[in-house]
This record gives sequence, C-alpha cells and structure tokens, in this order.
Amino acid sequence: MTQPQSGVVAIYPGSFDPITSGHLDVIERGSRMFSRVIVAILQNEAKQPLFSVPERMEMLRESLGGFTGVEIDTFQGLLADYARAKGAGVILRGIRAISDYEYELQMALMNRRLHPGLETIFLPAAESFSFISSRMVKEVISLGGNISGLVPPLVEDRLKQRIASYKRHTST
Ligand code: PNS
Repeated sequence: MTQPQSGVVAIYPGSFDPITSGHLDVIERGSRMFSRVIVAILQNEAKQPLFSVPERMEMLRESLGGFTGVEIDTFQGLLADYARAKGAGVILRGIRAISDYEYELQMALMNRRLHPGLETIFLPAAESFSFISSRMVKEVISLGGNISGLVPPLVEDRLKQRIASYKRHTST
C-alpha cells in the first residue's frame, strides 16, 4: 500500500512504559497505511509504571520527531469510547508471537462489540523486534544487561538514569 487510506483515523493504544523499537516500527508502518495515527497512552496508575504519563509522552514525542500524520494523546476508561470520541475507525496493534494473538483477539472482539464498526488491524512485528517487550527491556536493564537497539537511544538513557536512581534509593 503506497498511499495512506485517506480519512481513516487509526489509534495505536498501549502503555508505552517505555516505547520500544518494536512500537516505533508499528507506528512507522501504520503511518504509511493511515492518514492519521493517534498513539494513545492508557492512563492507568494501577499498573505501577516506571515512567509517568508525561514522561512517556515526552519520550514518544522525541522518538517520533520525523513522522508525519502521527499524534500523541492519552486516554482513560474504555478504548472503544475513546475511539468513538476521536472518530477513529481502526485500532492498530502489533502481534509478536502466536501467544499474543489470543488476548489480542479477545480485545478486538470486545472492542467491536462495544463499538460496532471499529476494526482492529494486527501488524506482525518485524522479525528483529518480535522478542521485545517493555517489561522485558526493563528487567534486562535493571539486571545490568545490554538493551542497545531494543529501544530508541534517548529511551535507553532515561532507563539507565531511572534504574540508577532506583538503585540509589533502595541502597540507602
Ligand atoms: O501496551 P498494552 O499494555 O498491551 O496495552 C493494552 C491496552 C491499553 C490496549 C488495553 O489495556 C486497553 O485498551 N485498555 C483500556 C480499557 C478497555 O478498553 N478495556 C476493554 C477492552 S479489552
């Protein structure tokens, strides 16, 4: 598909705690398919995130500098209600492995029940990113492993700072 689907608004929802190279790949490919992609961060402090929503927004903004037709927003409550409010017809989700599919399918069907006409489009993760998750990146870096290339360089720096400050606080 060379021309983006004119007028179709797609939402790419997630926690993005923090954004990974796999997320960036989905956003880049999505931005070539749809005229507008809204990257929407779920506001859910119950998940005990490493980064606050404003911090995650800032990292997304800095990582997405060169992308056209991509916006960053936050939402609370039901994704289906947010999609309706934004006039979006598509939810974009990346699928890394078949194990992701069961949960993603459930979510897609529930969202379509809550908002008939809302379609979920799954993009298979690029092979080189298919093993990356925000959770695993945080675990690897907190245990001293190398995460170079798995997240944008500016995110790697923030992760190092955040983990170092956690370690300072817990060792005092
Ligand atoms: O990055 P994540 O954590 O996999 O993203 C999950 C997300 C934000 C897409 C999902 O939890 C969500 O849409 N939550 C909003 C609440 C909602 O609409 N729930 C019902 C549909 S399953």
